Amino acid sequence: MSEQTLSNLLKEDRRFEPPTDLAADANLKEEAYARAAEDREAFWAEQAERLDWTQKWDQVLDWSNPPFAQWYVGGKLNAAYNCVDRHVEAGRGDKVAIHWVGEPVDDKRSITYAELQAEVSQAANTLTELGVGTGDRVAIYMPMIPEAVVTMLACARIGAPHTVVFGGFSSDALASRLVDCGAKVVVTADGGYRRGAPSALKPAVDEARAKAAERDGHTVEKVLVVQRTGGEVAWDDDVDVWWHESVAKASPEHQWEAFDAEHPLYVMYTSGTTGKPKGILHTTGGYLTGCAYTHWAVFDLKPETDVYWCTADIGWVTGHSYIVYGPLANGATQVLYEGTPDAPEKGRWWQIIEEYGVTIFYTAPTAIRSFMKQGREIPDARDLSSLRVLGSVGEPINPEAYVWYREVVGGGRTPVVDTWWQTETGSIMISPLPGVTHGKPGSAMIPIPGVSADVVTEEGESVPNGSGGYLVLTEPWPSMLRTIWGDDQRYKDTYWSRYAQQGWYFAGDGAKKDDDGDLWVLGRVDDVMNVSGHRLSTTEIESALVSHPKVAEAAVVGAQDPDTGQAVCAFVILRDEFIAEADDAGEGSDIVEELRNHVRKEIGAIAKPRQIMIVPELPKTRSGKIMRRLLRDVAEHREVGDVTTLADSTVMDLISGRLTSGK
Ligand code: WT7
Repeated sequence: MSEQTLSNLLKEDRRFEPPTDLAADANLKEEAYARAAEDREAFWAEQAERLDWTQKWDQVLDWSNPPFAQWYVGGKLNAAYNCVDRHVEAGRGDKVAIHWVGEPVDDKRSITYAELQAEVSQAANTLTELGVGTGDRVAIYMPMIPEAVVTMLACARIGAPHTVVFGGFSSDALASRLVDCGAKVVVTADGGYRRGAPSALKPAVDEARAKAAERDGHTVEKVLVVQRTGGEVAWDDDVDVWWHESVAKASPEHQWEAFDAEHPLYVMYTSGTTGKPKGILHTTGGYLTGCAYTHWAVFDLKPETDVYWCTADIGWVTGHSYIVYGPLANGATQVLYEGTPDAPEKGRWWQIIEEYGVTIFYTAPTAIRSFMKQGREIPDARDLSSLRVLGSVGEPINPEAYVWYREVVGGGRTPVVDTWWQTETGSIMISPLPGVTHGKPGSAMIPIPGVSADVVTEEGESVPNGSGGYLVLTEPWPSMLRTIWGDDQRYKDTYWSRYAQQGWYFAGDGAKKDDDGDLWVLGRVDDVMNVSGHRLSTTEIESALVSHPKVAEAAVVGAQDPDTGQAVCAFVILRDEFIAEADDAGEGSDIVEELRNHVRKEIGAIAKPRQIMIVPELPKTRSGKIMRRLLRDVAEHREVGDVTTLADSTVMDLISGRLTSGK
């Protein structure tokens, strides 16, 4: 972000006070900040009381071996019991847990907590029968159907950590995750619906299973398949099992057992600065406490009356924390939607809000920006007056999008909570509280009670108001990641080495404190891009490009994009024998399209570059490091910055010349 946009941002002087009725009845009041600061562990002990424990902890936090934390030491609980059974036992079995809305119109189903309990129990029985024991890993590669939530909870119920892989990822990406976490069973569907058409999933699982076996000698023992589209699927009788022939026929009784607070709950892969995704490990007690507390406090959830909807996919951490674990632990009623925002009609989301009377709505800035472009007539055509709290997550929300969201979607009544957090933090860390904090368009404001954050210099000095630096979390928190699956060293190096002396968690984001001391998260400071709220690694896409036989070298940058926040821009040097081919065709040639599709095949559609530029050279320092800063200048159509540290300072002229000549 340029200095000028920055200073414009920091001059934001619009303020929105919490609505009086919301403030009067707010779940968390102002005093919580002081109380949490005074005795953090007592505050977190109080939050853990939201859950049912079969055995209470002896110690809230054991931080004797940092950065390896243990929370609620000695405590025992079952996450699925907390998300499902206890609500039934409390007499709320008839309450709707999930209003599921399929993509095909009228394909919908409302599931009560009692029904959810029966289905989770059936799935738990089937997984056990398929040989899944406590501690075994189960991969989930599914569309947004109730069975996905049921499977996650069934895994939690039997203590088998799940790893959900986003259904848009390729078979290669799936294979590497299966291998990395040693998944024994995969749960999938024949396919899902995308913009009115069925799209197959099972073939990618078959391919991934074959690749895992051939390349790494890893055997996936069983594949459990939900029939969703009824499409033709290849079948291996030794491995494949239909959901409707197993789970649907299993006993709906299942005796859960309590697990240690630190028992692994799940592994979620996310992009880092190297080509290899990191398996972020979350454990049971602390994670569930963080999700339940934040979902209740930040959205001011009133489980009796609210209808909550988070539009994330369960393939991302937002779906884990704010579709599955937080809302269900709190006994909320929520909407789960399978499809895209604008199919079959542009106003599908607004129609769903109207139909179900959604009161709390949580989505991403990229979606808000795309609705802004379509115009306010579309949301205006629906009755959105049920909404009372709006949330934003995934990337910085620009002030214009914030104000549009508040005015057009929220009718000017609703607070907007801009929530900053990460796969690693497990739950929301920085956000306004809708009944306490005033809103300031574009700012995530301050850490929630119980969380300590700061913006610091390279040397670890806290920056004064009006200045920028690196975002750090200065105290451990219950839902923090415990390690990177199978790689404690990488865990230490990535998050805890930068400020090792102070013992702070380095988030990888740049941030500013404005004149009031409120925080503005500005984006990643490492080689990680944020495209439509999804994290992508430059190196991972570079490796995908270089794996193509026509590519000699590649450099990828995230360039500002008005719709997706950042967009993937690649600079590629071709192998000699293919240069002529590209020259003949010019920009937009077949080769560019071929490379874009190659990235899609290797990683998934979200990683497909917006733009690929074929260049003769890449700008490198004398030590051979690619200067992405200069490439970003080109991609964002700026004058190219200082080139004096380049090994060959004429390279940028070559690149710019090449681009203006259209070749
Ligand atoms: C990165 C984490 C948190 C769930 C979704 C993404 C960026 C996230 C915000 C926000 C500015 C944000 C950061 C962060 N980010 N929320 N409210 N304002 N930036 O999870 O894939 O782990 O990505 O998303 O850069 O580091 P993730």
